[in-house]
Amino acid sequence: MIELLRRRRTIRTYANTPIPEETIVTLKEAALRSPTSRNRMAWKFWFVQDSELLHQLSHSKNSGSAPVGKAPLAIVIGADESQTDVWIEDCSIAAILLQLTAQSCNLGSCWIQIRNRQCAEGDSESYVKKVLGITAPTLRIEALISLGYPAEERPPVSFEDLPTRALFDK
Ligand SMILES: Cc1cc2nc3c(=O)[nH]c(=O)nc-3n(C[C@H](O)[C@H](O)[C@H](O)COP(=O)(O)O)c2cc1C
Repeated sequence: MIELLRRRRTIRTYANTPIPEETIVTLKEAALRSPTSRNRMAWKFWFVQDSELLHQLSHSKNSGSAPVGKAPLAIVIGADESQTDVWIEDCSIAAILLQLTAQSCNLGSCWIQIRNRQCAEGDSESYVKKVLGITAPTLRIEALISLGYPAEERPPVSFEDLPTRALFDK
């Protein structure tokens, strides 16, 4: 795990290479294995490969959502807020586990924040729900993850460059 973390970087540009179905099944398993408070499992995951939907999702934010437009896959992560008061935590855990699983399958990925963000049509959550045809009022959208085989190389951050000021020994 620490080797995976040492090499982890956000990847925003992707090769035009399809992701094998077997890998997509692995990602789906990773999503469903992510832990949730009180084991409520109130999250939901939309695996989007349709190019028109990916194009529409690339306009989910005023800036920062463009990587989806160049990705063969996006995973939209949301949850029913009426089923748990910690849906943000549950979705965030699933998101990072998906990103690390993707990396272990040689995929690059980018977290794209949706909750609390805006786009040309208004708030990003409403826009993403409209694109996906989600009508349930209690369904919230936390983020989407764009994924694909990397078309850019980003060097690992060296240990010396880590923000050790954030650590405290007591
Ligand atoms: C909660 C969260 C929201 C993020 N939102 C976006 C986003 O909307 N668009 C984007 O391009 N990157 C986004 N990122 C990626 C960060 O910009 C990136 O993780 C950070 O710059 C550090 O770079 P690294 O992941 O390569 O270490 C987000 C990351 C996190 C954890």
